[in-house]
Amino acid sequence: MRIPGVIDTLTVREPAAITALAADPRLDRVFAPVGPLINRYIAGRIRIDYAFRGARLPATSAKDDPVRDEAHARLAATLAEPAEAAELAEILDWLGQRGDDGAIGPMVQSLLARRFDAGATGSTESWRAARRLKRAVQATPPERLIWALQQGLYGARARLSTLVGGDRAGIHAVGIAVHNIVCGLRRMRALLAEPGATARLTPAAAAARCLPAPPRVLRQATAAGTTAEGSWRAGTIVIFDLETARGRCPTDQTVFMAGTWAACPAGAWVRNLFETLWTEAARRKDGTK
Ligand code: HEM
Repeated sequence: MRIPGVIDTLTVREPAAITALAADPRLDRVFAPVGPLINRYIAGRIRIDYAFRGARLPATSAKDDPVRDEAHARLAATLAEPAEAAELAEILDWLGQRGDDGAIGPMVQSLLARRFDAGATGSTESWRAARRLKRAVQATPPERLIWALQQGLYGARARLSTLVGGDRAGIHAVGIAVHNIVCGLRRMRALLAEPGATARLTPAAAAARCLPAPPRVLRQATAAGTTAEGSWRAGTIVIFDLETARGRCPTDQTVFMAGTWAACPAGAWVRNLFETLWTEAARRKDGTK
């Protein structure tokens, strides 16, 4: 979409084009105040809303930001062990039930937070903070006004940080990534209810059906360029529509941007989580426990 002086974005949906553009050095996550009005607003919101104690959260940081190396090093240790069936009991109960859809958010926050702080527990408040963080860039002025009266996004980030000992990758996990996992578990619950699904699908196939990609990830162009999907200028916000791309190519390359500089460092852990959950849930459903 391009309205000179107002907005300049380019949305890319083709998996092959996303792979090519993900490696293009002109597309980064610097989010400098350049380009037309709305582009500057979006870049400014990302810089301010997805930061904590003076540094950006790792998944919105520029390629050469040291915050990313720090996050990768910490996560390699934090996620070294897969989630065990015993700590998944609560989520497995939820997968086998109907209704009470709101309970899953805090449960997944607890699971993720315990990677960073063994005693942490998600709650209605921490889940509200996560929903706020997710909406940050799209929030309307009236919403922002209400938030401002309740300590704004600063309060939301501070609430989330208490779950993970102030770790920035942890804040990303319990504030942003948690939504992807919850979305995938809702799909899994629906899939488990389909007659014959547990017999028909291997854990790997079920995980591939359920794992969502983040709907959109953003890049900002530092210089002009052209692709089959369109051309861009310095300051254009390029949107990778990963969830549409996943419908065409549901691999780790799309879901976790595996093989790119921005690849999700939690990809293998999350895939293992989904496979374990499917195995255990199928066992419970088929009465082979
Ligand atoms: C279903 C779950 C998840 C999906 C689909 C997912 C997907 C992704 C994708 C596509 C990116 C690249 C974003 C971009 O370039 O703008 C990313 C980055 C990242 N993810 Fe995940 N993620 C998930 C869960 C998690 C979890 C649980 C954690 C932490 C425990 C995590 C930590 C990160 C970090 C730190 C980055 C930034 C990588 C970098 O640029 O260096 N993710 N994730």
